[in-house]
Amino acid sequence: MPPSRLVVALDVPDPARAVSLVERLAPLGVLLKVGYEAFYAFGPTIKNALRAQSAGYALDLKLHDIPRTVEAAVHALVEPGVRLLTVHALGGAAMLDSAVRAATERAAELSIPVPEVYAVTVLTSLGNDDLGELGLIGGPGENAIRLAALARDARCAGVVCSVREVADLKNFFGTDFGTFCPGIRPTGSAHGDQKRAATPREAREAGADYVVVGRPIVDDADPVGAARAILAELEG
Ligand code: C5P
Repeated sequence: MPPSRLVVALDVPDPARAVSLVERLAPLGVLLKVGYEAFYAFGPTIKNALRAQSAGYALDLKLHDIPRTVEAAVHALVEPGVRLLTVHALGGAAMLDSAVRAATERAAELSIPVPEVYAVTVLTSLGNDDLGELGLIGGPGENAIRLAALARDARCAGVVCSVREVADLKNFFGTDFGTFCPGIRPTGSAHGDQKRAATPREAREAGADYVVVGRPIVDDADPVGAARAILAELEG
């Protein structure tokens, strides 16, 4: 995995705009991310566009269900081009294990590289107060470490977490345990619903493996320019 890798979230409501973003952003070598919005509204269209560009992509569907259902979902989702899949660590150890096993087995059946399975720890839209309301003891950092231990034991490639948690996670689980970090905001751009945000530079300095950016790129009048500026900041 490269030291810092830009992932662009294709979170737009209009399929034509999403396809145009794929065509314009794939040549930059960024990893494109398909989430709920694109997958549920026009999954086949976006997958065709990615295939046309030979672009590998991250499938951020944050699976969270009983182990057998998640196993079946992963089996159905793994196909050529899928480099990374997300699941919720709160689904528990058996569910994480099923997801990793299904990804491995399905990739072997298809003779394709095994997609990395990343487990969401604590959503970057949640702050201290939200965790208290959910009955989770401790702050986001403590919960992220606890959930990451489950993910590591289930052989997940890494976790989805905030940049603020990367240093502790690397200390606990080693530098090879991956971190996929949303909540990235260039200085001056709107945070929206992201409560534990960090700048691209902070992401680089913390050693985040994947740096996930949506709105600051896809809502910019010049998405390619916005992506290039973030890439430059990530490269230092
Ligand atoms: O627009 P923005 O940069 O906030 O987009 C962040 C992306 O990362 C969205 O696609 C969101 O679903 C995703 N994500 C997140 N927090 C997580 C996991 C994924 O924001 N814990």
